[in-house]
Amino acid sequence: MRKVLAVETSCDDTCVSVVREDGYVELSLSQNQDSVHKPFGGIVPEQASRNHSFHLLPLIEQALKKISIDDISVYAVTNRPGLLGSLLVGYTCLKTLALLHKKPLIGVNHIEGHILSPGLYDDQSELNSHQDEPYICLVVSGGHTHLFKVEGLTQYELLGQTLDDAAGEAFDKFSVLIGLSYPGGPQIDRMSQSGNPKKFSFPIALKKKGNLNFSFSGLKNSARLKIGSLSKKQIEENRHSLCASYQEAIVNQIIFKLNECAIQYPEYKNFSIVGGVSANTRLRLRCEEWAQKNNIQMRIPPLRYCTDNAAMIGYAGLRRFLQDSSRLHNDSCYAHHLDDDFIGLKS
Ligand code: KG4
Ligand code: ZN
Repeated sequence: MRKVLAVETSCDDTCVSVVREDGYVELSLSQNQDSVHKPFGGIVPEQASRNHSFHLLPLIEQALKKISIDDISVYAVTNRPGLLGSLLVGYTCLKTLALLHKKPLIGVNHIEGHILSPGLYDDQSELNSHQDEPYICLVVSGGHTHLFKVEGLTQYELLGQTLDDAAGEAFDKFSVLIGLSYPGGPQIDRMSQSGNPKKFSFPIALKKKGNLNFSFSGLKNSARLKIGSLSKKQIEENRHSLCASYQEAIVNQIIFKLNECAIQYPEYKNFSIVGGVSANTRLRLRCEEWAQKNNIQMRIPPLRYCTDNAAMIGYAGLRRFLQDSSRLHNDSCYAHHLDDDFIGLKS
């Protein structure tokens, strides 16, 4: 079976992985930069790219201590969307490796990586049965809230998306408002577990039937007003319930939209939810309950493949490579991936 060595540096995590064509993750390494960005309450692009260039080669060296470079058939790297300086670090490094070893280099769209992430498995998880297309996939991350109809590999139809903030952004901005540090999602998740989700009421936007778009900016503004009306002591005493109530509003909007989608596309019985926010404990539970009640097959990746990782990039890259090479019978077609527009400067 072919193996891919993949790198993901689109945002603040430096990730390296080796994946087999059946989705088995042989190795997944990652170095986060949370402590670097924490003082700023968000990601500083210049710092992110500098830190990628610091961490990437040691991670690749670590990977190649376990896996022989001769076993790697293909290289894959996130080529868009993301922070330009950060993407360039991963791209330049893998382009060099691919040229040196005379192997194809595949550029992978980060969102496509997330979409295919439920297909990953490893020694800690059961074999993830292949999800038959077509299916509906919701990508909820720090940068995206996109609802897709997936007809096949590379065939994605956008059904709806956020009109303003992404779901992860809504978590991260709220955490700054109530004095938690960056990134907010995991902390709000933890704090909510001992809070009362009904104590504070927050609005759910775009509740019109048939609307598959999302919006989180009204929720954020309402939270800003609510917190502004409370004393420091009241915020302190209610922090867990504020988190739980705010989180519930995000989850409610997501469930509402999944439900609208299921009504509009009753022939779709397979759904998946992916991206950093799909690691959220409450969201996972509510999605599974919703799916069970509506006779829908729901797939959510293992926690370690919800947030950014290079395994999903490798898997998506290798699947694209196999699809294209069986069609074209010529690996050299991948030369076009090395052109000037590889990182999407023109699009
Ligand atoms: O997919 P991801 O790692 O990076 C992007 O592609 O953006 O998603 C990161 C986002 C952040 O906004 C983070 O706060 C959120 O995912 N996140 C969570 C949880 N874990 C990560 N949000 C809610 N609950 C979590 N447990
Ligand atoms: Zn992501």
